[in-house]
Order: sequence, then C-alpha cells, then structure tokens
Amino acid sequence: MVLLLEQSEESIYSMSFIMKLHRHFQRTVILLATFCMVSIIISAYYLYSGYKQENEPSELMSEVDCGDFQHPPYRLMEVKTMKLSDAPKTDPTVLVFVESQYSSLGQDIIMILESSRFQYHIEIAPGKGDLPALIEKAKGKYILVIYENILKYINMDSWNRSLLDKYCVEYGVAVIGFHKTSEKSSQSFQLKGFPFSIYGNLAVKDCCINPHSPLLRVTKSSKLEKGSLPGTDWTVFQINHSAYQPVIFAKVKTPENLSPPISKGAFYATVIHDLGLHDGIQRVFFGNNLNFWLHKLIFIDAVSFLSGNRLTLSLDRYILVDIDDIFVGKEGTRMNTNDVKALLDTQNLLRAQITNFTFNLGFSGKFYHTGTEEEDEGDDHLLGSVDEFWWFPHMWSHMQPHLFHNESSLVEQMILNKKFALEHGIPTDMGYAVAPHHSGVYPVHVQLYEAWKKVWNIRITSTEEYPHLKPARYRRGFIHKNIMVLPRQTCGLFTHTIFYKEYPGGPKELDKSIQGGELFFTVVLNPISIFMTHLSNYGNDRLGLYTFVNLANFMQTWTNLRLQTLPPAQLAHKYFELFPDQKDPLWQNPCDDKRHRDIWSKEKTCDRLPKFLVIGPQKTGTTALYLFLVMHPSIFSNSPSPKTFEEVQFFNRNNYHRGIDWYMDFFPVPSNVTTDFLFEKSANYFHSEEAPKRVASLVPKAKIITILIDPSDRAYSWYQHQRSHEDPAALKFSFYEVISAGPRAPSELRALQKRCLIPGWYASHIERWLVYFPPFQLLIIDGQQLRMDPATVMDEVQKFLGVSPHYNYSEALTFDSHKGFWCQLLEEGKTKCLGKSKGRKYPPMDPDSRAFLSSYYRDHNVELSKLLHRLGQPLPSWLRQELQKVR
Ligand code: A3P
Repeated sequence: MVLLLEQSEESIYSMSFIMKLHRHFQRTVILLATFCMVSIIISAYYLYSGYKQENEPSELMSEVDCGDFQHPPYRLMEVKTMKLSDAPKTDPTVLVFVESQYSSLGQDIIMILESSRFQYHIEIAPGKGDLPALIEKAKGKYILVIYENILKYINMDSWNRSLLDKYCVEYGVAVIGFHKTSEKSSQSFQLKGFPFSIYGNLAVKDCCINPHSPLLRVTKSSKLEKGSLPGTDWTVFQINHSAYQPVIFAKVKTPENLSPPISKGAFYATVIHDLGLHDGIQRVFFGNNLNFWLHKLIFIDAVSFLSGNRLTLSLDRYILVDIDDIFVGKEGTRMNTNDVKALLDTQNLLRAQITNFTFNLGFSGKFYHTGTEEEDEGDDHLLGSVDEFWWFPHMWSHMQPHLFHNESSLVEQMILNKKFALEHGIPTDMGYAVAPHHSGVYPVHVQLYEAWKKVWNIRITSTEEYPHLKPARYRRGFIHKNIMVLPRQTCGLFTHTIFYKEYPGGPKELDKSIQGGELFFTVVLNPISIFMTHLSNYGNDRLGLYTFVNLANFMQTWTNLRLQTLPPAQLAHKYFELFPDQKDPLWQNPCDDKRHRDIWSKEKTCDRLPKFLVIGPQKTGTTALYLFLVMHPSIFSNSPSPKTFEEVQFFNRNNYHRGIDWYMDFFPVPSNVTTDFLFEKSANYFHSEEAPKRVASLVPKAKIITILIDPSDRAYSWYQHQRSHEDPAALKFSFYEVISAGPRAPSELRALQKRCLIPGWYASHIERWLVYFPPFQLLIIDGQQLRMDPATVMDEVQKFLGVSPHYNYSEALTFDSHKGFWCQLLEEGKTKCLGKSKGRKYPPMDPDSRAFLSSYYRDHNVELSKLLHRLGQPLPSWLRQELQKVR
C-alpha cells in the first residue's frame, strides 16, 4: 500500500485530473478487494481451526503447575498454530542437515528417527546453503526439515532460504533446529530475522514444561524439576512475542557480565515454538543438544506435531517382563519366601500403572530345590502361587539347544521339563518359550523349532540377536516355521546384577537409565518391549522389582503413555499387526557375527555358501555357462534340487523360508575354503524383487554374474520354451498375440506375456542389484559372445572371479556342428553338449513381432546403454543396433 501511494505521488503532476481520478478509483477497488480477500481467508482459517479467544495470561498463570514463576518472562496461554502438512502433499521422510557424518548431535537425531522407524534423508549442511531437490512430480519429498545447527538455516544465502521457505509454506513443512554457541564466553545476540534474543553458554537449573504447548503429546507437563541440567553450554531464548511460545523453561545459573543483563531466578525458554503466525512456517528451536532427556522427549513430540501426526507412535506401550532361569540360580542368589512374597506384592502394585501386569516365569525344572533351605522354600512358595504368574519353558537342564544336533535328544530334554511342569501344576499352554542364551532361535537351529512345536506347541519366542544384538534399535522380529520371533530389549539387569551398590558403574547408572536414560527411552520408542530379567534379580536387593517400579513411576510422572501387559500370544499378534513388513526373515551368515558364531552348531559350517551366483535371466545361455563353469577344477556347483531339477531357487521365492540349513545342504563341504569356489545358478533371481536384498544379506561378498541377449530374442526363446513344455497359452496363441495382449486379455495369456517381457527390462533389474552390490561385484556377460566365442568369455569370467588355476577353455571346448553350439570336448573326440531343451530349432521371429518388441524395449534399452556406460562396460552389438533404430 505504501508502495502504491509513493508511486501515485510521483506521477501526480503529470496526469490529468480525470486520469488521476480513474486510477485512484481502480486502486481503491483493488485495495478493497484485497482487504476483503484477506479478511475472508483469516476468518475461514479461524473458523476452520476452531479458534478460541485467547485466555488472559493472568487467568492461565494460576493454572500453571510448574513451580513458582517469580518473573514470568512469557505469556503462557493456549495457542493456535499454522496449518501443517496435508497427508498426500509430502512423502513421510525427514530431511536432516547434519554438521558432519560423525557429529554427535546429528547422530542422536538420526538415532531417534531410526528407533521410531521413520524414514529420513541426511545431508551435510553446506556452508552456503545449497539444497537438495525438495519436490518430485509435484509432491514434496520431505515432511519436516531438521538442522543440527540452526545457524546454518538462519545464515543461509537469501536465494536458498527463500526456496526453502517457499517449499515449507507451500507444503506445510516445519523446521526444527538446535542452537549451541561455540565461543567460550557468554553472549547475547539477536537471532537474524527473529524477534528474540539469545543468551549462550549458560548453565541452567530447575526446569519446567509449558503445560499449554501444543507440542506436548508423549510428554506430560509435570511439576518443576529441581536441580542442574547437564552441561554449561546452554542457550536460552528471551521472547516477548505471542507468536513464539516457550516449551521448556529453566532458570539461568551464574549469569555474569551479560549485556543486556539477565535476571537471576527468572525462567527462560530452552526450547521455543515459532507458531508460524509470522510467515506461515512453524519452527521449534532447541537451546542445546539432546543430552538432556526432556529435550529428547520434546524432540519426539515436536517431530510428531510438526509432521501433522504422520511421524508418530501411538501412546500405547506393551511391556512384558520375563524372569528367566527360574530354579537355575546358584545358592545365595535365588529367591527365598520373602522375595516371592515381594514379587507377588509388587506385581499387584504394578498393575495400578501397567494394566494386567504379570511376570512371565521361565523355568528349568532340573534345578528345582538346589538352593539353600530358605531358597528351596522360596521355590515351593513360587509353585504354591503358580496361578498368579505366566510360565514358559526354558530348557530342562538350561542347556543351549544348538549343542543338540539331533532333534530327538532336544525332544527328550523338553519332555522332562514338561513332565516337571505337569507334576507341579505349571500351565503348559502359553505357547511361548525362550532358549538359554538365545541359542537356536537366531541363528536358526531348525531342530529347536521342530522340537518346540512337537513337545510344547510353541508359537512365540523372543531374542535379542536378530538381526544383531547391537545397535538395539535395529532389532526386529520375524516368523519362521510358524513361530513368531519377537525382539527382546535389555533393561540393564543381568544374572550377576544382584546388589544395588555393586551395579556396574555405580548405582547411579541404574537410576539414570530408569529416569530418562536408556531404559526409559527403550519403552518410549518401542511400542512393544519384552525385557529379560533373571531369577537372581529378584533375590537379595531385588533389583528387578526396584527397576520396574521406578520405571513405571517415572513413566507415569513424565509421560502420557498407556502401559499394559499382554500374554505372549496376543503380544506377538499385536507386534506383527504393527510391523507386518517384519514377518519375512532376512537371513545372514551366522559366522559374520561372533555372538552368532558362538551359538551356531559345531556340526554345521558357514563354508557351504556360494562365492558367486549366476542370476540369469532365463534363456540367455545360463545353462551353457553353468556347464562350462563346472568344468573348472576349482569351481563346484550345488547338487540338483529334486523339485526344480537343476535350480535351487532359494532367494527368489518360498524356498527362502525353509532357512539356511536347507540351502546349505545343497552345497558340498569345500576341501579348501580359499581356493574352492562354490556357486549356484538360478536364472529367476535376475528379475526377482526380493533376491538382491536377500543375497546381499546372506552372502554380501558374493560375486554376481548376469548374461544379456537382445530382450526380444529372449522373449521369443521363452515363448518357444513354453510351447515345447505344452503350456496351453503358448500353444493357443501366436507369439505376436502373446506380446501384444491388452490388459483385458485372459489371465493365462497375461501371465505368459509377463514371463516373456518383464525379465527383459534389463536396466531396472540391474539397478536393483546395484542398490545392494558394488559394481565391481557384478559381471555382465554378452550372451551372443558366450554363444559364439565361449572360451574368451570364460577367460573373462575366471579373471573376474579370481579363480585359479587358469583353465584353458580353448582346449576344453569344441564347436559341435550337429548341435550347432559349443560343447565340452571329452576324451576320444566325443562331445558333451547341453540337452535338447537348450539350443532348440524353431522358426525365426516374424517381422511384426520383432518391430513390436523393438519399440516396446526402446526406453529400457536406452536406459541399459546409460547404465553400461556408467559402469564403463562396452555395449553388446545387439544393443548398438537397437540404439541406432532409436536415432
Ligand atoms: P534357445 O534354446 O532358445 O536357442 P538358458 O540356459 O539360460 O535357458 O538359455 C538357453 C539358450 O542358451 C538357448 O536358447 C541357446 O540359444 C543359448 N545357448 C548359448 N550357448 C549355448 C550352448 N553352448 N549350447 C546350447 N545353448 C546355448
């Protein structure tokens, strides 16, 4: 408006009176219209978001149950914020700008996102502020932006800043940032572009949560928390603007030489929430890192709130506490009668905070009555209260299942424990079991799974070992042989943690873990936590009871989480309902993790795994390559599968669920692990969605060989293959009809069409393998060359594998003119060629089909040429010809 008036002043004398009048009139109309629009938008916004009249600050101050604010520097009130991201507008991925790959706050941020199972993308925050692409196909790529160092955001060059701001406004995306002053001295300054001052490098104490902050979800605003907060490098924010709301306050300690001075005893915000009323972007600024547990909790809430609740965990938490080793402990470490009474009392007490809380007792009957007299009485008291608890079987003699190679001896042991259970009225139908030291659960000792099912009808177990013990946040569950394996969490109590004073690192460590430390956040970040404790944690100092009572209290004081316990079967169903994508296991090499190797049967070896794979696709000459490979004295293939004849087909389909014992049984035990090369050829792996990930998980160092021919020829060869196998669709329809069938064609025709065409999308399939394998592990063979000049190709293959001795294929192969292909040369000039099904005689492809396919595969082939170029590989001649057609 000012601008408009200035312009009109400039031109006033040069215009005629009528012109002036006319222009003024126009401007007035425009201004009026704009004013009306803005009023409509504002009213609509407040109507839409159910705006309530702001409460008087004085009114609300009386409600603030957060200590005694002698000098409240802020107006505490209920607030309204800008509208946030709409579900379909952005992907649920967080964009995190870190200072470096190793910066500790950056890692803390990532740890929380990972623990919550949220997707994220990391960028090293550039000095100038260059941004990654924020939009893809009109959709926002990020739901939330986090800056480890807020100054990188504040001081970004104006071009990038306006790009980012525009993105945030348009897609309803918010920003979280952390401020930490770097200089030693305390300082105060204005944060560029924001109406508040910052005081840096301070020590703070006595913190308090703003009960009206809209961020609070998991966090419950509690009473004033007295005491110093960790560190002396705090930043506090002084705001005097209602568009910025404090989230946490604390008192500043020892403020010296500050200008402007900071008042002692006053509360200052350590976290503020920019409500976005100023420029349409919500922001949350933290005046420190995440070392302070309450900041961590508020961070979790901020992510949830600022993502419009799309990156959020429910408030329900399920906790199951297992007490393993019942009857197993040494004399002096077990429960006596009083301990058992305390166990029962505490269980009742805990039920007030954890709905249906029940201890889950794992027993090894063999050690019943092997303690002192008082402890034996404890055993009896426990059995006298059998119905008060849930029970699950450990091994009878607490032996590790992987030490039993025969399923029958495992079964015998289990029967002994079951007999014990029946004799003592211990329920046997919970369907849950745990193996000593996780043995046999993961890595899978299939004998254990079978024996469990036979004797106990086990359907649920738990382990800390899948996929690895550490980091704990990566632990997952899976289902194998109909047994649901749930991840277990650690609570810091082990068999030898018996006395409070002797807690490793001092008793404060246990308290720290409970009060906002590791244990507390385990529950906060995992919807389902199964904790393992031991009998010895419930005798003597009863640290098990101490831990869970204090944990429940702390959770109730500081969080709105709803705690409850479910019986194992219900818990397992809940788990896979929450995480359905975890149902399928992802096998790894048991020898790649020392802990796994220790619980892997000595009768089994990890050497029976392939060093390389021929992945296909089908009809490109994979069988010929297979035949040539096995001629090499150091190369050994799997034995043939009785079901699929030649191929194991483990990684692509359901055979994978038979487990690695099943897979390894196909391979011989190599006589020399270093020089022998085991391999497997399954031509369906090439286009399988799952195979690359599965292969990379089990044999990450394996080399991968693929063969490519013109995808049109491949499709035709497959069609002919199906005809000779009397596939009804292939017999009924011509090749052209198959490849050109429309979406409404009969299903058998569509199925055949897919098998003809999809494997030929070479570039996209290879790209998928390259997600999991570095290019140097991948060899792409030209199938035409393999057919015409196999000896040269085999030299290349030997070099790629690094296999020795060098085998002379020029001498070992011969061209069989009868067969029309290269074959193995046997003694006395005889040849061994591939069977009738390889190198069939059939009429050449008709020109219409060739033209159709040439056009069908055009884009795929262009992509393939780019891919090969990127990998520094030569283009096969068929591809060069196809590309010429494009020009
Ligand atoms: P055709 O039967 O259509 O000619 P795969 O083993 O992957 O299923 O591939 C079979 C194809 O391998 C055959 O397809 C054939 O063209 C090709 N091939 C290449 N070298 C061969 C060889 N030495 N002997 C037989 N077939 C060979």
